[in-house]
Amino acid sequence: MADFAPLKQETHMFEPPASFVKNANISGMDNYRAMCAASERDYEGFWAQHARDHLFWHKPFTKVLNQNDAPFYRWFEDGQLNVSYNCLDRNLQNGNAAKTAIVFEADGGQTTRVSYKELHERVCQFANGLKSLGIRKGDRVVIYMPMSVEGIAAMQACARIGATHSVVFGGFSAKSLQERIIDAGAIAVITADEQVRGGKHLPLKSIVDEALALGGCEHIKHVVVYRRTGANIQLAEGRDKWLHDVLASQSTACEPEWVDAEHPLFILYTSGSTGKPKGVQHSSGGYLLWAALTMKWTFDIKPDDVFWCTADIGWITGHTYIAYGPLAVGATQIVFEGVPTYPNAGRFWDMIQKHKATIFYTAPTAIRSLIKAADADPDVHPKKYDLSSLRLLGSVGEPINPEAWMWYYKNVGNENCPVTDTFWQTESGGHMISPLPGATPMVPGSCTLPLPGIMTAVVDETGQDLPNGQGGILVVKRPWPSMIRTIWGDPERFRKSYFPDELGGKTYLAGDGAVRNEKTGYFTITGRIDDVLNVSGHRMGTMEIESALVANPIVAEAAVVGKPDETTGESICAFVVLKRARPTGDEAKQIAKELRDWVGKEIGPIAKPKEIRFGDNLPKTRSGKIMRRLLRVLAKGDDITQDVSTLENPAILAQLKQAQ
Ligand code: PRX
Repeated sequence: MADFAPLKQETHMFEPPASFVKNANISGMDNYRAMCAASERDYEGFWAQHARDHLFWHKPFTKVLNQNDAPFYRWFEDGQLNVSYNCLDRNLQNGNAAKTAIVFEADGGQTTRVSYKELHERVCQFANGLKSLGIRKGDRVVIYMPMSVEGIAAMQACARIGATHSVVFGGFSAKSLQERIIDAGAIAVITADEQVRGGKHLPLKSIVDEALALGGCEHIKHVVVYRRTGANIQLAEGRDKWLHDVLASQSTACEPEWVDAEHPLFILYTSGSTGKPKGVQHSSGGYLLWAALTMKWTFDIKPDDVFWCTADIGWITGHTYIAYGPLAVGATQIVFEGVPTYPNAGRFWDMIQKHKATIFYTAPTAIRSLIKAADADPDVHPKKYDLSSLRLLGSVGEPINPEAWMWYYKNVGNENCPVTDTFWQTESGGHMISPLPGATPMVPGSCTLPLPGIMTAVVDETGQDLPNGQGGILVVKRPWPSMIRTIWGDPERFRKSYFPDELGGKTYLAGDGAVRNEKTGYFTITGRIDDVLNVSGHRMGTMEIESALVANPIVAEAAVVGKPDETTGESICAFVVLKRARPTGDEAKQIAKELRDWVGKEIGPIAKPKEIRFGDNLPKTRSGKIMRRLLRVLAKGDDITQDVSTLENPAILAQLKQAQ
């Protein structure tokens, strides 16, 4: 378990600008506190009222929260709705038909605007196309798509017909894709001929072909291919079809499939403590409610805003704050195909200027790499661009260090924009702890306070509350509407991972350590307490990477740990024992490269270890357990000062200390 030492923390408070507070959807701390008090007074009533006010129900619910099968909670269970209807049709009825839903900017800079009316037509047509292939409510559809209007339309089309989608990030390998297709039992894959990022083409369709050829995917009946670049691809007779052919004769109207609030909207795979990714299953009603509410609360969304979340639809942030949240509240949003450094590291600032973005939401890793770039080349410094349209900044995915926060606040926000450091997870569905931009005084490096209705706490390993100032385990004491419902196909793992008996079986274990400030009660996240790494805001299990390494025939043993990294937050450091003699010099370099490429093939480029060290052995206890805490110290380059008396082979430490 990680140390709970609090991070070095800024204490200076930044008040939200008065003009922001005046017009905010939640204005001032008194309003925030009143909302929290309302949720504590009548928890179910609080959520029921919001669910009625913010969503369209085809059949209104009469039950709010069913706790009979805790921790398998059910929200609004006798209500029926359709997520796509809420995101699209509602906007046609309330005067947003001609409003721009999506400003899409391609990698090369071409811009397309899609109105709510057009998006509705495209989604309906897509939904009819899926139906024409025999895809029905409850079927699983894997989406392996680039950032595109079609990618979002694919998700919305699944929602429209009640199919459960599972989006797989385009950076995952054929093997990872195959594992997810099998686990989800998908009957179709929607993909593109190629993905284009930073001028480079990635052959998505041929990766799908490779995944299916690995075997076990016989349940896949259809592969639907969006033509992005026109690259030459193979279409398997009977199985594969171009998207434009599937859509050609389809009507642009499609009655939504009304589903129960608990109907699984999607499964999204994420990393946990074991080698096998978890299929996080989300609901329809509760999930959408929190996506919409947090757009209004954390992002203070207003009709004239131009919202830009830079995440990929392959991650939870791209689900909640691109594919669903912004549409559910009728917002205009920017969707970007490319990367922040192409054609140069001013791309984000250029796009904010060009599209007059008002709300910008990105990851600390991106900010840190753009700080470096701006230091090296003044032409890509944000101050060179007109960013005066911005009124709110957000950060997501990993802790933001106070230095990066300050740079973001000063140079991007011109000291006029609140910065919301949003803490949440794939499992939480939406924001959990975050400043409210028109209320909460901000402290760089702290995600501040839980949103109204979210009952977070810091406890010890037996579930006892800890006083402020004392580091412990972050938990959520009550179920919330957008929470994970189960792990697809593995309810027992769900129960054990998130609602362990040691905490009483009904308290949600977030998997992070946290500490609350003694004076303010503000939360600071101190990092994962399990074997999960956060590299560039991407979540990676150390066991997954270890399993990939030991699957290589030359590897005998491997242990993977995180190492602090200035840009990516953490980087992956692998300690490897080969079945042959320990390599040194050029041979070690060559084998390290082969192993990195191997991991890239097994999982995806995002999982490639930055550093590989070879040893004759790994530090182990007498019972054979690898002492990872020592490896973490070695990876950092620090001297070992801890007790090593339980170590079987202390001599190995000196060998592993050297970076090769
Ligand atoms: O460790 C926390 C970190 O990211 C984990 C969740 O990762 P994932 O499910 O991939 O979702 C990322 C996008 C929401 C958390 O358990 N994390 C996320 N946001 C923050 C954070 N750590 C510190 N501060 C944050 N704002």
